[in-house]
Amino acid sequence: MQHILVTGGCGFMGSNFVRWVVREHPDVRVTVLDVLTYAGNPANLVGLPADRVTLVVGDICDAGLLGRLVPECDAVVNFAAETHVDRSIADPEPFLRANVEGVMRLLEACRAHDVRFHHVSTDEVYGDLALDDPSRLTEDSPYRPSSPYSSTKAAGDMLVRAWVHTYGVRATISNCSNNYGPYQHVEKFIPRQITNILCGERPKLYGDGRNVRDWIHVDDHSSAVWEILTRGRIGETYLIGADGERSNIDVLHAILEAMGRDADDFDWVRDRPGHDRRYAIDPTKLRRELGWRPQHTDFAAGLRETIAWYENHRDWWEPTKCATEEKYCQMVQEHTVMPRKN
Ligand code: NAD
Ligand code: DAU
Repeated sequence: MQHILVTGGCGFMGSNFVRWVVREHPDVRVTVLDVLTYAGNPANLVGLPADRVTLVVGDICDAGLLGRLVPECDAVVNFAAETHVDRSIADPEPFLRANVEGVMRLLEACRAHDVRFHHVSTDEVYGDLALDDPSRLTEDSPYRPSSPYSSTKAAGDMLVRAWVHTYGVRATISNCSNNYGPYQHVEKFIPRQITNILCGERPKLYGDGRNVRDWIHVDDHSSAVWEILTRGRIGETYLIGADGERSNIDVLHAILEAMGRDADDFDWVRDRPGHDRRYAIDPTKLRRELGWRPQHTDFAAGLRETIAWYENHRDWWEPTKCATEEKYCQMVQEHTVMPRKN
């Protein structure tokens, strides 16, 4: 791999991946293709060497542009997507375009030019698990997506599988659990609560707060994607996870404690419609086949570093904070404050 095309490289995970590649693989050049939606921010790439990283502002649905960019690189890593579940509930249409049509256009370009493709997907395609279910998700779990977001991601995954099977496209898929770390948009759970506290607002917890997410540091996601891209078996799916299951209320309590607030200094708000209960990844295949291991296994330490990053980068998130909270007020579930739970 000498030159890779990273789509969605101005978003949270894409930009962290680009930073990780620049740091860990000095011989690799990166072209970023990003249409700069509300979630894409060129500032996420600031400080990276101009001779190693080039930003092209454009759409993964633009076949003509892909026809020029794709043949110039050795591989395409697709992070571009509409990613926020609450937004997909309020307005599903953009999700179909980016997460389904966009994947098809990328696959067609990779097929035409015989370029390696890695598709970044989500554990949400497998649907949720019950809180008391002892099992975790594996590559053999059935697809059971439940939100407009996850159903479009599932459709994208199916296209990748079909293009491998039918046309022999050299592709892999990874499905990961919830990432955290720097440069994450303030609409997402952890940054929303940290920045609410920094703004003097109370954090917002959906439903009963017992929903479980399986947290992984974004740098561990980047290293896993690199291993799959360079050593993964073509046509295979790999689940990425770091044994990080935590309930939302536990994560919120950890944030409140780290930021010196009382444990009950937050608002209970109305639940997300169709809110998936629990995700949990069994990463055995990735560990056994590729020997991958997460490095950031101390969640409390990772959370403290993430809080410090938001404290020290107010100029990065403050311009989008008000608009994000206004958007929450307009969204279907209107985050009405609910009576305090016991
Ligand atoms: P993000 O919302 O922070 O960034 C998405 C990026 O894609 C933005 O820069 C946006 O401008 C760009 N984009 C959107 N539509 C585009 C288009 N049509 N053409 C070009 N660029 C476009 O997303 P993220 O959280 O970094 O997620 C990246 C990928 O990882 C997504 O595929 C998502 O489904 C997947 N994923 C995310 C998580 C998570 O916890 N955030 C976990 C597992 C998988
Ligand atoms: O599992 C991987 C997925 O993780 C990715 O595919 C998605 O792109 C990513 O957005 C994320 O989806 P979630 O819906 O799990 O993430 P979110 O940050 O929106 O919410 C995490 C949990 O916190 C979820 O149970 C809802 C809850 N929540 C969220 C917000 C924004 C709250 O309780 N309060 C909030 O204010």
